[in-house]
Amino acid sequence: MGWIRAERGKSDVAAEILDGKALAGRIREGLAGEVAEFRAETGIVPGLSVVLVGEDPASRVYVRNKENAVKAAGMNGDVVRLPADASRADVLAVVDRLNADPNVHGMLVQLPLPRGLDSVAVIDRVDPLKDVDGFHAENVGLLAQGRPRFVPCTPLGIVELLKDAGVETRGARVVVLGRSQVVGKPIALLLLRKGEGADATVTVCHTGTREPARIAREADVVIAAMGVPEAVGADWIKPGATVIDVGIHRKADGKLCGDVAFAEVAPIAGRITPVPGGVGPMTVAMLLKNTLAAARLAAERRG
Ligand code: GUN
Repeated sequence: MGWIRAERGKSDVAAEILDGKALAGRIREGLAGEVAEFRAETGIVPGLSVVLVGEDPASRVYVRNKENAVKAAGMNGDVVRLPADASRADVLAVVDRLNADPNVHGMLVQLPLPRGLDSVAVIDRVDPLKDVDGFHAENVGLLAQGRPRFVPCTPLGIVELLKDAGVETRGARVVVLGRSQVVGKPIALLLLRKGEGADATVTVCHTGTREPARIAREADVVIAAMGVPEAVGADWIKPGATVIDVGIHRKADGKLCGDVAFAEVAPIAGRITPVPGGVGPMTVAMLLKNTLAAARLAAERRG
């Protein structure tokens, strides 16, 4: 079993394109205004620290984007860089220092970590009140109980995209492809909740699932987060369905693609996110939102 990848052809787009870049821009503008108000009221400048271990090229780009976005929103952003051969004790010492720093309201450790470093041990060490990634067990538990505090940024961004596009999730059949801690599990939990932008009937497919294409074809909303380039073809999609593509991969010809074969799915889907310019920019916008929320939390606790 596992995800099967077929050769994918070309076709014309008919679906509405969900422009995550534009929506993220509007959200970031609004957040910059909120940050300015918060600074004026409290004298506190929200601060995010990102820990980057090693030289993974994609991670370096993501971290630079996060740092720039944080600064553009009027917050403090800094990156703590460690070499690829940093020890577990080195990484934990940095996390401890950031936990103790009152000017750091949010922090995240960029994943994946270099081989040999245990990401679970590192995430366990992050102060759950500064865990703007929402990966700490305490925040995962709160989400699972339906009373979220910090929710992972990509799933949050997907919910915002669906709401903005007017996609009705109440009673909708949603199929999530992939069961990662970063996307698959938390988006399933978010959409299972009661209330606006949720109340969906959620199915999660994974590498142990038989006939994922048949299951996906029953969905009103397909969220592709399996991390396999162009795995989702036209035969996975019910005509008119909404397709959210979380994947990002560089092809041999240098072009970017997602987990969805865009050219063949777009003519069938009702709505579809592009890659790039769909989910990715929303993730960064939600990180800013979580960082401001972390600063508010710190201000409340300070009294
Ligand atoms: N690597 C890929 N996505 C993410 C994310 O949302 N947070 C962190 N820390 N690392 C990632």
